[in-house]
Amino acid sequence: MRTAVVLSTLLSASLVAASPVQWPLGLLSKYQVWDNTQTAMDGYDIHEKRLVQFGENESPIWVSEWEKIKFKESGINFMDITDTQDLGFSLFSGDSKRLSAVTYPSPNSTVLVKKVIKSLSTEGPLENLQKFTSFTNRHYRSETGKQSQKWLLSKVDSLTKEYAPDSLLPFVSITEFPHKWGQNSIVAQIKGNSDELIIIGAHQDSTSFLPFLPAPGADDDGSGTVTILEAYRALISSGIRPQKTVEFHWYAAEEGGLLGSRELAQDYERRGALVYAMQHFDMTAWVKKGTQEVVGILTDYTDSSLRKFVTELVDEYLSIPWADTQCGYACSDHASWTQAGYPAMMAIESLFGDSNPNIHGSRDRLDISPEFSFTHMLEFSKLAVALVIELGFPKE
Ligand code: BES
Ligand code: ZN
Repeated sequence: MRTAVVLSTLLSASLVAASPVQWPLGLLSKYQVWDNTQTAMDGYDIHEKRLVQFGENESPIWVSEWEKIKFKESGINFMDITDTQDLGFSLFSGDSKRLSAVTYPSPNSTVLVKKVIKSLSTEGPLENLQKFTSFTNRHYRSETGKQSQKWLLSKVDSLTKEYAPDSLLPFVSITEFPHKWGQNSIVAQIKGNSDELIIIGAHQDSTSFLPFLPAPGADDDGSGTVTILEAYRALISSGIRPQKTVEFHWYAAEEGGLLGSRELAQDYERRGALVYAMQHFDMTAWVKKGTQEVVGILTDYTDSSLRKFVTELVDEYLSIPWADTQCGYACSDHASWTQAGYPAMMAIESLFGDSNPNIHGSRDRLDISPEFSFTHMLEFSKLAVALVIELGFPKE
């Protein structure tokens, strides 16, 4: 914290008069690991004005990119709504094509869920997370943030080729959802017979309190990223074509104020897409010393029917119990889908207060403490598998 104060003084002194992204020299010499290309972040105008909102019912205000960075540093939470101001319009315009009052069945695909869950492993997540955290950071405006996204894309692609049987391949598509900041979101779709969608999400970007500092983001949200990748691998390996259409999303730029997921949710809402359930995973690996292992069920900005269904899945298929918890603000991408009027849920590693204290810095590493657990993470892959099969697969 002391360092943060020193740095921020340094920054405010040298940045006020700076032209677009002249990162302060004092900082660069202090952290000698970056070259100019890394810190340049082409096109990142820290004076650019952005419209941000601090809470659901608060009026949005215009601030600079630099002020956004300072908010993040001070722990002030915001959504950047500049390019997605009409998100949720259909709730008010009455032309919503969404499914009204979705209800969910009780779990009953027991045999198939258990079979696919058995094929889950911690091996892939460990290997993938080692690679994913080896990028200096995965900031949505950084060069390494682009590289990590391309690596993830190629990983989804190669897993698909390796694990999906030929009979399923015609129904699988892997696409980039482009964003103007450079790091794209990724969508892997398994097309079902129906257009109703089941979405499983995680965010791929990471951040430190300054955009170009190291941010391995092992837990936030490398853990969610590899959790859902493992679930995806297991589901396509089953070779079964779903009844509903299933999508896996890896969002860009969550840390910039839910930017990536808001653009996707806006696009789906404008197209009148029928989202039956959206389940998000942000931080799935940390078990605080001395606490009981649980699946945290977020009760704010989530759908109550979907939440209840997810708790039934946990009871039925997971080895650990669930516990209700709250962020108290729109803390991740599930909130974008909730705002668009779709039923969304988010599961986290613990009670909010017991979550990983190392996020948003260089200590968010997978080898920092035995509290980082791949077996805990695997419970969340089980949840993703169970949800997709129970809601999306043909009945046995
Ligand atoms: N993973 C965090 C949210 C979180 C924190 C979930 C602790 C569970 C426990 C997420 O990446 C994040 O940092 N969110 C921002 C807000 C967002 C709107 C930019 C935050 O919490 O500051
Ligand atoms: Zn975060």
